[in-house]
Amino acid sequence: MKLLILCVTLAVLRSSLGINPATEEEEWQEWKARYGKSYPTDEEDEDRRNVWLENYDYVTAHNARNDVTYKMELNKFADELSPAISYPDHEEVHEEIVVNDKSAPKAFDWRKKGVVGAVKNQGQIGYAEAFVAAECVESLHAIQAGELFDLSAQEVEACCREFLQLPIENDVFGCIHKIGGLCTVATYIPSSKCANASCLPVAQTQGTKYVPKNDEGALLEALLKVPVFVTVNASPQSFLLYKSGVYSDPQCTGRNLDHVLQLVGYGTDEEGNAYWICKNSWGLDWGMEGYVNIQRGVNRCGIAEAAKYPY
Ligand SMILES: *[C@@H]1O[C@H](CO)[C@@H](O)[C@H](O)[C@H]1NC(C)=O
Repeated sequence: MKLLILCVTLAVLRSSLGINPATEEEEWQEWKARYGKSYPTDEEDEDRRNVWLENYDYVTAHNARNDVTYKMELNKFADELSPAISYPDHEEVHEEIVVNDKSAPKAFDWRKKGVVGAVKNQGQIGYAEAFVAAECVESLHAIQAGELFDLSAQEVEACCREFLQLPIENDVFGCIHKIGGLCTVATYIPSSKCANASCLPVAQTQGTKYVPKNDEGALLEALLKVPVFVTVNASPQSFLLYKSGVYSDPQCTGRNLDHVLQLVGYGTDEEGNAYWICKNSWGLDWGMEGYVNIQRGVNRCGIAEAAKYPY
């Protein structure tokens, strides 16, 4: 139903904006080549092309606006419509959250301390939770021991699977503690069952600390200790197609927490838009080299709904 409304909206947009038909074919072929896309049948090619066209108009209309704080692009997801679009019927009112950061620095970025690993690509159906849990242990260990390892998300997935399901009041770091810590990607031998005995764990954690719900001041305090595991709503189409800037789509509320990110820093742009710096697991070719800056102070995308970190 809501998906239908979106399609109708996009269809209306398309008729008013319209991509030049002469360049449409060329751009479609170029886009497919850039992202290595090919479809098994002409019919699917046609279907995907229609979705891509909707996204083309959506992105073009958005990027032409000068009252938005972020850009979108026709990235590798441009032939998809978000499977879980959950646009609210009317915009939810958010109370401004006062971030009590008088004593905190104006900006902070754990990447500059060398404690954040490379951006991963979880693939279409991977467990983002496993990646982010491994990344948070990686960062904790790097802060404590000065060595940054590439820890095995596959080990987290195989050994702590029941702790990865949303919602995220799950003690995944307690599970990692129970299995003796994590091994590196290079030494963990994937198997259908938990194979924690197949390798030597190199990074430990004692358990999970939970950040008080909907409290971005507390989230900031937690972040100053260690990068944080945050749960977000990543279902709006604008999130899939995010390119750069401060992501602030009002439709991105905390209603549908369906994805997780590693929160690694915060700042404020030249126009005064405050943001959180988050590492995604959709590859380097998404967003800002794999990162997204999410609007700070209004619980955008539910970023402060279910945050936690290892200690
Ligand atoms: C593997 O995990 C189990 C708990 O599932 C634990 O008792 C055991 O010590 C772990 N083995 C290693 C080598 O860490």
